Amino acid sequence: MRAVPDEIEALRAELRRHEHLYYVLDAPEISDAEYDGLMRRLKALEDAHPEFDTPDSPTKRVGGAVREGFVKVRHSSPMLSLDNALNEGELTEFDRRVRELLAGEAYSYVAELKLDGLSMAAQYEDGRLTLAITRGDGQVGEDVTENARTIRSLPMVVNSPWPKFEVRGEVLMSRTAFERLNAERAEAGLELYKNPRNSAAGTLRMLDTALTASRRLDFFAYFLLVDGQPALPSHWENLERLRALGFKVNPNVIRAPGLDELAAFCRTWAERREQLPYEIDGVVAKVDSIEQQRRLGWTAKSPRWAIAFKFTARQAETVLENIEVQVGRTGALTPVARLRPVVVGGVTVSNATLHNEDEIARLDLAIGDTVLIERSGDVIPKVVEVKSRPAGRRPFHMPDTCPVCGSTVVRAEGEVARRCLNASCPARLRESLTHFASRSVMDIDGMGEALVDQLVDKGLATSIADIYQLTLAQLLELDRMGDKSASKILANVEASKHRPVARLLSGLGIPFVGERTAQILADTFGGVDALVQADEAQLQTAEEVGPKVSESIRRFFAEPHNRELVERLRAAGLQFQGEIRKTTATGPLTGLVFVLTGTLPTLSREEAKQKIEAAGGKVTGSVSKKTSVVVAGEDAGSKLDKARELGIEVWSEARLLESLAAAQSSLFGGASA
Ligand code: IVH
Repeated sequence: MRAVPDEIEALRAELRRHEHLYYVLDAPEISDAEYDGLMRRLKALEDAHPEFDTPDSPTKRVGGAVREGFVKVRHSSPMLSLDNALNEGELTEFDRRVRELLAGEAYSYVAELKLDGLSMAAQYEDGRLTLAITRGDGQVGEDVTENARTIRSLPMVVNSPWPKFEVRGEVLMSRTAFERLNAERAEAGLELYKNPRNSAAGTLRMLDTALTASRRLDFFAYFLLVDGQPALPSHWENLERLRALGFKVNPNVIRAPGLDELAAFCRTWAERREQLPYEIDGVVAKVDSIEQQRRLGWTAKSPRWAIAFKFTARQAETVLENIEVQVGRTGALTPVARLRPVVVGGVTVSNATLHNEDEIARLDLAIGDTVLIERSGDVIPKVVEVKSRPAGRRPFHMPDTCPVCGSTVVRAEGEVARRCLNASCPARLRESLTHFASRSVMDIDGMGEALVDQLVDKGLATSIADIYQLTLAQLLELDRMGDKSASKILANVEASKHRPVARLLSGLGIPFVGERTAQILADTFGGVDALVQADEAQLQTAEEVGPKVSESIRRFFAEPHNRELVERLRAAGLQFQGEIRKTTATGPLTGLVFVLTGTLPTLSREEAKQKIEAAGGKVTGSVSKKTSVVVAGEDAGSKLDKARELGIEVWSEARLLESLAAAQSSLFGGASA
């Protein structure tokens, strides 16, 4: 048998090879399942032998480190920006300057895409990624090494001839990843990211690196530096070497002998930009020879040997003909603008997203207005501003009932979205069913999207509870369903009745109650009935349950359709009761909801939180009417303002420590007396 360290190293090398094939070359050799299998094996070995664990193991791509903030670090050499050419005239002007400065010498350009992300420097020592820094102000950036490790196309281990080198390039988020993320945020009632670039920037700087990992950033390299200088004599060779080292280099790059080829490349990509899975906002031209670059030199802000040719924004004016309301997967109501069709950058646009009612208020938008719309990539077009407001424009109001099922909709405090709370709402049904049947919830094998679609289309499922009423005869009428698979599905449905109650709770689709919260609720309350009966204060005695979650649970069970669903599931024989495993901390602060803001003089946020929770209090992130006390330190900002506005008690750290100490001495005092 192979020694453990050898097997670990072999697995890592194998996984790195597949990472490169998959994320850099886009040419996988094995299936995702095989890849996951190797990863699990490595993880198991590392867990069993922590002495062999290393920070650059492929298992670390999933993140996990959580920090309090970012450390500032100085760049090895400044990361400057580029001068812009806004049209072909300015491009010609740039070329003329280069020619003049090079006094008749021959030269050529490398033309690359201007990737619309944020630049980052990655430093390697002895072939290992040691430091990743955001651009920051160009001189000093932030250490985002742990986040960068989750970017799968950025190698953590490189076979390099230099003891130290640095790679600079662009961190990107693909349009699909961006849209998925914003859809999730809209559903969760969170503020939306403006574009993939902002969202990539926010993601790279997440304190919880597991979140960075889940959002799938990408990295394209364009500079290879050794001792602060390009490693090889031409930019083109540097790009080739980067590729050979395993970095992802954008394939859409040419060596342009002169201005004509350069301008043609710019025109081509202005046309083709939509076809890319990520956003670009122009073309970057760089003089190829590093020696010529050196002689051309720099101005204070940017190199004289490079230019960014910027594409023009794609905007157009049109009339807002109507506003319709769509209902999403978790019941969030989203207003959508119906526009008089207009061509923007070669594409006809007739819809635009309006996100939520606050956005409509912010724009002061009414039906009949002439609006400016903008397309950025494939991202759904958006309304930038109102150009004119005709007399007779019709103001829009979000409906009070769900446009699909008619149930009441609510806008919870602190949320931007209104939601339909009916778990059986047809708009939500497909998603509710697939979620309920999924592996980590009720684990009904065979009941994936394809089957759910058929069940909904044929009217066999109008609620989650209908799953438990399915008959063999009904299943046999579906496409591609034989006796054997139908019986298997029924057996799996039957087996799902015995899943622990936490699974059932996470399957109901209560907003903000995912797997983790469902487990906490099950452990704290034991079963569905205790949860249905608990009031908000009782709900908040559970760990991690603040006003937002408790209100959501109350609202969910107050909705008649949902109570009916619960009763039908009970009748079907699902497991409604489990064991109580968690006793909640009770103490002098029980029932109080705290918000921490600013820097406290001695306690870190985490310490303050632990102390409050140990005394039975609850700590939440945002100030609302339900907040009891705001503990404010130095540089407290908007949360403190909001607390004052709402007349909420404000404590200093000293005051907090006093209440904790007073409570403690009275407890101990009581015991010894
Ligand atoms: S070269 C001094 N190449 O554009 C050299 N930059 O305004 C500057 N960018 O901060 C970088 N794609 O974030 C270069 N192929 C590319 C680029 C690129 C995008 C960004 C980068 C930089 C900004 C320059």
